[in-house]
Amino acid sequence: MIVVTTPTGAIGSKVVRNLLDRDAKVRVIVRDPAKLSDSVRDRVEVVPGSHSDADVVNTAFVGADAVFWLAPPNFRAVSLDAAYSDFARPAAAAFVSQGVGRVVGVSALGRGTLVAGQAGFVTGALAMDDVIAASGVNFRSLALPGFMDNVLRQVDEIMNEGVYRTPLRADLKLPHCATQDIAAAATRLLLDDTWTGQGHVAVLGPEDLSSNDMAAIMSDVLGRPVRCEQTPPEAFLAGLQASGMSEATVRAYFDMMTAKNNGLDEAEPRTPESSSPTSFRQWCEEVLKPAAAAR
Ligand SMILES: NC(=O)c1ccc[n+]([C@@H]2O[C@H](COP(=O)([O-])OP(=O)(O)OC[C@H]3O[C@@H](n4cnc5c(N)ncnc54)[C@H](OP(=O)(O)O)[C@@H]3O)[C@@H](O)[C@H]2O)c1
Repeated sequence: MIVVTTPTGAIGSKVVRNLLDRDAKVRVIVRDPAKLSDSVRDRVEVVPGSHSDADVVNTAFVGADAVFWLAPPNFRAVSLDAAYSDFARPAAAAFVSQGVGRVVGVSALGRGTLVAGQAGFVTGALAMDDVIAASGVNFRSLALPGFMDNVLRQVDEIMNEGVYRTPLRADLKLPHCATQDIAAAATRLLLDDTWTGQGHVAVLGPEDLSSNDMAAIMSDVLGRPVRCEQTPPEAFLAGLQASGMSEATVRAYFDMMTAKNNGLDEAEPRTPESSSPTSFRQWCEEVLKPAAAAR
């Protein structure tokens, strides 16, 4: 039995699909089971509730060979610990008390860099990994750069203004990965019962690209000019403050992007194992272009 958290999310929904395609037995934890598609609901066991709840995880983890773990984004969190480590503590205890075989968690790239301790969301995610690892469970943390799918938040600006905005230095080449590749890596680890111990697996996409490179690829694929515009730090911070996020989240977002500009995403060497297949161009063809056409 494989337990999947966030089965309605961008990564979790793809993990569920992949596992069902491989005829695995799947149990999902979901706050609102009505959000699952019929074709998924009919083929999985459902434990209703949040995976931050001790009763919910203790019920869901009974007899679990493996668990897919993801702490949901929480832009209203009062602190980074509340969003990550505290969210995971009931599950970390239940991994042990329910004898879960292996845990595959969604995390971030950055461990070992000079800026990892002041990198906002990433610092929170790495601290959560430490909480899970301290439980002693067999654990692989997925060390992830920024998701290509983040670009979807800007479809309107890209289509209407021809602008892709980022607080990153426009010429800074960084890894980017597609959520479909993250789900594929998670699926492989969840189905593989040969690994033990603790460690991380990086999913870096096939190449490092700058925001300027990404804008040029978007122009090509969308058939209209798209230019990258770097948002200065003060304007980025003001935009976050006006967005309704909690104070802790504003700081976490700002610190993470500052840390990315200062080497956070250089934590992992690019190797055949850490490279994942989906290129940004392919992602634009398969995901961005249809999303733009649907506007
Ligand atoms: N975006 C990036 O560039 C990036 C980079 C590295 C790491 N990450 C990490 O990736 C993760 C985000 O993954 P994603 O894009 O798949 O997320 P997502 O699409 O936003 O999905 C999050 C899911 O969590 C569920 N959820 C929200 N609040 C919840 C709560 N309190 N209790 C239980 N479930 C809750 C939501 O489901 P319902 O609303 O249906 O309940 C939703 O399906 C985060 O942990 C983030 O730190 C992101």
